Amino acid sequence: MITVQEVPPLRELVRRARAEGQSIGFVPTMGALHEGHLSLVRLARDESACVVVSVFVNPLQFGPAEDFSRYPRRPEKDAALLAAAGASLLYLPRPEKFYPSDFSTSVDVHAVSEGGEGSIRPGHFRGVATVVSRLFLQVAPDAAFFGRKDLQQVAVVRRLIRDLDFPIRLVAGETVREPDGLALSSRNAYLSPEERQRAPALSRTLFAARQRARAGVRDAAVLVGEARAELARAGLAVDYVEVVDETTMRAAASVDHGTAMTAAVRFGNTRLIDNVALLDD
Ligand code: PAJ
Repeated sequence: MITVQEVPPLRELVRRARAEGQSIGFVPTMGALHEGHLSLVRLARDESACVVVSVFVNPLQFGPAEDFSRYPRRPEKDAALLAAAGASLLYLPRPEKFYPSDFSTSVDVHAVSEGGEGSIRPGHFRGVATVVSRLFLQVAPDAAFFGRKDLQQVAVVRRLIRDLDFPIRLVAGETVREPDGLALSSRNAYLSPEERQRAPALSRTLFAARQRARAGVRDAAVLVGEARAELARAGLAVDYVEVVDETTMRAAASVDHGTAMTAAVRFGNTRLIDNVALLDD
């Protein structure tokens, strides 16, 4: 695996791989890598000869009161994990050089960005769409790999690719979970042992909703009501619970193929999000 920190060598290495007939797969990350990220790298490796992974904690997608400065950063460990997972190229931009000091452009994916996480974290998806656009233009991959763990992010990037006509295929990877169901997340490290013990109630609730949907309960309001009650019983503070259309991220009144239940809960300043497809595997 080769590590590059600047765009010209990145472009040169990608150009050479492409000249050799290799397809380019790209996995954007913010580092502090875990099995969720690494599953995307393996998925990329399965179908792309050259796998580029970026590690960059993007300040644009953090709100002023969010965890940008304390977000975990461990580039050496990430590099070792990526090399072992079979990445070809690590793009590790220097944080102070990634954006020009007078950077003035932003990319807004309207509608899809607005509910769910977008309503709790104003500007978050603008930051994501802006950095993803910049990274797409720097790396110029054939395919990009995103985790379904961040379902709204997948919907935003899918719409971004379509609307701006990026010649990039989006591949969504399944959510990787701990044995007790908790979705892997870099932010799980913020949980106290007591919070960590209560956290699996989130995925348990979502899986129960999926079971109910598959047993024939199709009324979204009924499923959301049950899920709220269960999260309250488990003592979790709920930001939102919704049944949404996975493409538009709009609330759905009834369960159908392509709908998911999404939820966010709070433990002090730490927010955890999760979702499950209700009918599809
Ligand atoms: P980050 O949170 O580091 O996540 C990088 C990728 O890993 C995302 O596509 C995310 O959905 C995926 N991922 C995280 N946890 C996962 C899990 N448990 N199972 C499967 N995939 C998982 O998402 C971002 O970074 C940023 O917003 C980024 C796209 C890099 C733009 O800055």
